[in-house]
Amino acid sequence: MNTQTKLRAQLQSIDPADYTCWDFAAREKAKLWPRTWQVACREEEITQPGSFVTYEIADDAIIVTRNKAGEVVAFHNVCPHRGRRLTKGCGKAAQFRCGYHGWTFDLDGRNVALQDRDDWAGALDDVDLSLQRVRIGTWGGFVFVDLREEGESLTEYLETIPEFLDPFEYEHMRYRWYTTVHMDCNWKVALEAFMENYHVFTTHPQITHIVGDDYSKSYAQGKHAHFGFWGTTTPLGVPSPRTKRQPPADARDGVIEFFQTYEDQLKAMFSERDFTASQRLKEIVPEGADAGTAFMAAVQLGREAAEKEGIGYPERLTFEHIAKAGANWHIFPNCATLPWFDGALFYRARPDGDDPDRCIFDIWSLVRFAPGSEPALERKLLTPTEGKSVGPILDQDIANMSEVQMGMKSRAFRRALANPVQEMELINFHRHLHRYLDDEIPS
Ligand code: FES
Ligand SMILES: [Fe+2]
Repeated sequence: MNTQTKLRAQLQSIDPADYTCWDFAAREKAKLWPRTWQVACREEEITQPGSFVTYEIADDAIIVTRNKAGEVVAFHNVCPHRGRRLTKGCGKAAQFRCGYHGWTFDLDGRNVALQDRDDWAGALDDVDLSLQRVRIGTWGGFVFVDLREEGESLTEYLETIPEFLDPFEYEHMRYRWYTTVHMDCNWKVALEAFMENYHVFTTHPQITHIVGDDYSKSYAQGKHAHFGFWGTTTPLGVPSPRTKRQPPADARDGVIEFFQTYEDQLKAMFSERDFTASQRLKEIVPEGADAGTAFMAAVQLGREAAEKEGIGYPERLTFEHIAKAGANWHIFPNCATLPWFDGALFYRARPDGDDPDRCIFDIWSLVRFAPGSEPALERKLLTPTEGKSVGPILDQDIANMSEVQMGMKSRAFRRALANPVQEMELINFHRHLHRYLDDEIPS
């Protein structure tokens, strides 16, 4: 093997210990989580002053809320008296009152009630008595937090993401559904199942007759990365070339089945509105139309339905832009998303305690709704071992995860071999993860 080939092979392999070793998880806790901007929640979860979400990451917990002025603010979820946590989960509070000795904080984190304050004889100042602020930033309707007291802005951190993803208008999307799954695998194993398309043909056999060409390419975008179907010519609604199946005699049937399948099996990326609109395809597209024409017409029907309902449509988003942006993005370190015209899938993975074999995985289906017609937010909590379903497609993804985690512990498994064309999101992820762990990061 020449040097160049060796170097390439090294760059594309990942040490299984990065997924299975307690020391590696401890290094992530020390060097990754406190030094990255992370999605804590969506703005729509905290619409009112005092609505709050508790974002837990490793040993830290953050209260994200809205103050009386309507600004999004965040605090470390720890009482400055003796350290009790103040909030759990999500809710609404006029103030944050500690359940231990009653110290109370307003929505700007100021201490407004302190039992027997004179006992300290004025020795404590406002900083000692108040909640500690956490830096926040917003993009696309997501609230990001950063545990560093100063440093790069969210805009700097996101690098090229706004250029590629702003046209999708995530800020106009709302939760269609929100599911959290507690899984028996490392957080990176869970996330990486949604950072490549290489698995689709095998893991999801029931959709290969409508997904078009599933051969993807993937590229780094700084510490983030994306994959897409650049250079492929077989559109959605047609069998993958790997199946060697003939396209349907009537291309319209394939497109209608595409939207039907995604509505039945995923309820994400494409809205229920897209699905309903696609049922009218035969009214506007003549028999004999090619699959690409039929697919674009179905999207146009979805757009007209959205505009008729007063929902609007992302004005700057074109097929050309979607082609440029690709199908999937990894947002370093712990999120991935698949955006589309009318909605998006979004994933967030976190460790669950110190155990590298466990994680908390959030799956969000985001869709555009007419203002006021959004469904009430219901956060579902699942554990796959209880046999509960997130829908056929995601169940298939999840079924791989604990098997991967166990397989990686085999003494015969020396390194994970990410595909250099289709799994660059993983390769880039681990390169940058190691840079954080080795302190080679922006301040
Ligand atoms: S720990 Fe919060 S008031 Fe004592
Ligand atoms: Fe999948």
